[in-house]
Amino acid sequence: MPVVRSIRKNSNNANAICWINKLKILIGLAVGGLLAALLFVWLGVFNVAATEKHWGITTQILETVRERSIAVRAQSIDVPPLGLPEQVRRGAKNYAAMCAQCHLAPGMEPTELNLGLYPTPPRFFEAEHSPHDPAATFWTIKNGLKLTGMPAWGAFHSDQQIWQLVSFVDKLPALSKQDYLQLVGNGSHTHKGGEQAHEDDPGTHPMKFGNQIQGHEH
Ligand code: HEC
Repeated sequence: MPVVRSIRKNSNNANAICWINKLKILIGLAVGGLLAALLFVWLGVFNVAATEKHWGITTQILETVRERSIAVRAQSIDVPPLGLPEQVRRGAKNYAAMCAQCHLAPGMEPTELNLGLYPTPPRFFEAEHSPHDPAATFWTIKNGLKLTGMPAWGAFHSDQQIWQLVSFVDKLPALSKQDYLQLVGNGSHTHKGGEQAHEDDPGTHPMKFGNQIQGHEH
């Protein structure tokens, strides 16, 4: 039956042409999308200024990426006993020297770093910003966070010193300004491999209360 065979052949050809056309459209769209993305970058359309806030959806995506990335990596971390008085005291001193300029502390005036960075460093002494998962907090302090201004502290501080910070950060929301100052004492700060590798003179310490970093005028 040659007529039926030729009809079938024609319809097969038509199907193939239809698929080739669809494929061409898809490739066209992909190339067009890539060119648009390259133009977006090259023409500097995206504003990287810290003063330009992300859209709500961008913030949500970035937060989910960060939370999942940390949660997966923190899973294998064993949390030691926390809240021991000496551990908290040591953590407080290093917090005052290394963290308070960005994350602030009870009774401390906002610093230029806290106000100027975007994303804003969370104020851990405010209960709603206090981190709740010690393993995730440990991981973050040790490794830092890309593209945020949060440094990695693991290179110069032992795991024990980082747990001291975790232990102290956990206590922060319950501390008054007096409690905090008492714990910090003279603000000496310790490094890996040696207690009190350097001491900060309380008179010249940049984190003096109510002052901005010394030696700089407005
Ligand atoms: C130069 C400023 C800066 C310094 C100094 C700094 N941080 Fe951060 N930190 C940040 C920023 C910015 C973020 C990210 C905030 C965000 O992504 O929303 C952050 C995030 C964090 C987080 C994650 C918070 C959360 O809820 O996910 C922890 C924990 C943290 N910092 C602890 C510390 C500790 C402890 C120190 C001191 C050893 C410290 N940081 C020093 C800027 C700083």
